[in-house]
Amino acid sequence: MSVATTGWSLKWRLSLLLTSLFVGVFAMALTAYVVSARYEIGRESQAVAKLAEAMLGIVPQSHEIPKVPIQALRQLDHARHIRALRTSEVDHSEQPYPAWFAHLFEDGNNHWSRTIIVTDGGIPLYQTVLYSTPSDELAEKWNDVMHLVSFAGVLLLILNLGAWAIVYWQLYPLKALSRALESLGSGERDVKVRLSNVEEVADVQRGFNEMADALKEAGDGNRRLTRELLRVQEEERKVIARELHDEFAQQLTAIDAESAALKYLALEKPAALASVNSIREAAHTLMRMVRGRLEQLRPEMLDEFGVVSAIEELCDHFTQTHPTLNLSVDLPSELSMSDELSIALFRILQESLTNITRHANATQVDVGVYVRKDGERRFLDLTVADDGTGVNLESEPRKGFGLLGMNERVKSLGGTFKLAEGIDGRGVAVSVTLPLTPKQVNT
Ligand SMILES: Nc1ncnc2c1ncn2[C@@H]1O[C@H](COP(=O)(O)OP(=O)(O)OP(=O)(O)O)[C@@H](O)[C@H]1O
Ligand SMILES: [Mg+2]
Repeated sequence: MSVATTGWSLKWRLSLLLTSLFVGVFAMALTAYVVSARYEIGRESQAVAKLAEAMLGIVPQSHEIPKVPIQALRQLDHARHIRALRTSEVDHSEQPYPAWFAHLFEDGNNHWSRTIIVTDGGIPLYQTVLYSTPSDELAEKWNDVMHLVSFAGVLLLILNLGAWAIVYWQLYPLKALSRALESLGSGERDVKVRLSNVEEVADVQRGFNEMADALKEAGDGNRRLTRELLRVQEEERKVIARELHDEFAQQLTAIDAESAALKYLALEKPAALASVNSIREAAHTLMRMVRGRLEQLRPEMLDEFGVVSAIEELCDHFTQTHPTLNLSVDLPSELSMSDELSIALFRILQESLTNITRHANATQVDVGVYVRKDGERRFLDLTVADDGTGVNLESEPRKGFGLLGMNERVKSLGGTFKLAEGIDGRGVAVSVTLPLTPKQVNT
């Protein structure tokens, strides 16, 4: 059974954490850069303004509009950060950086402007505005920032890939652990995981292996106990059957014989004859009951003629007592296996047939016993399928012990027990596999 996972995987969490940290640090570095660049640009603008005023012979902070000879103005043509503009013109020159970027560096100190009258040979030509602009500087800064962002992007990608790779390799053993847990949950016994070289993971794996060992030990103990209990149960049944047969049945036969003799003596006395007849009838009823009980407690056929004959007799008896049920049996002509397995097979079939008569309301029952070879090992498969009402064990609360007992018996013998859909998708199919040859243990 797999449990739905909730939340984010460690890979994504680590990625998010790294990315947030990185973006945070990067944003702080950019802020520091912008602050210092803004100060630098401001200082440069001031210096340039002073230089321009000195070169053009303008008196700083005077309210008069200075007259500047055109020749002097031409000297500024190649100066960085200074432009001349006719008052009516607006600067539409295309900048390589976006407006928001320029706003970041906006500062009262990095703007200087001065209106001048340009003269030629003392004659005023036109009026213009000289102003400082940090556009060259900003273009450089924009370029720097773009390079920085690309570099940071690549670095972030490498960091994330690295984190993913580390998480993948270091957590890989946990995947094996989760698979091992699933196997353990599905009933496998010999489950172990190899220890990782990551100490924290190895601790968990060690804990898992110890738990698996303990579970295996407990499971083995339970199986041994079940086998022993079943053995003792069969032994007791045998003793009871012997006593029933040797004592009870013998005494009933004696009563029957004595009452048969009495019958002749009582022929003349009708009242006595009626009593003798009822004694004989009671003795016969008891004998039939005892025979039936004996069959259930310990079918003689099982001991005397083997499991195939015992199963055949069980099925014959079933057909006779349930004439409305159509029973088809597929059995091998011979089966050689231990007493323990023979009894298990017989008892499972007996309980399955009893369940069908008690709960299934079926019309058809198919019984199949097959021997299967798988490599060196031999297995016995038993299927008992019916077309009755079927059972939903998940929705119905468990009351009886028949199915539970079958399951425990099969597990104690190292086999598997399954309940599935029966004939044509209806009813129930009990299917059991028992190993005929024990599993080779690799030492
Ligand atoms: N062949 C079947 N068809 C329909 N229902 C079944 C069948 N076999 C078992 N069941 C259902 O499964 C339940 C459990 O069966 P189980 O043999 O374990 O107990 P039980 O027969 O009720 O009691 P007992 O302990 O006497 O066997 C039954 O009560 C019945 O509802
Ligand atoms: Mg039952």
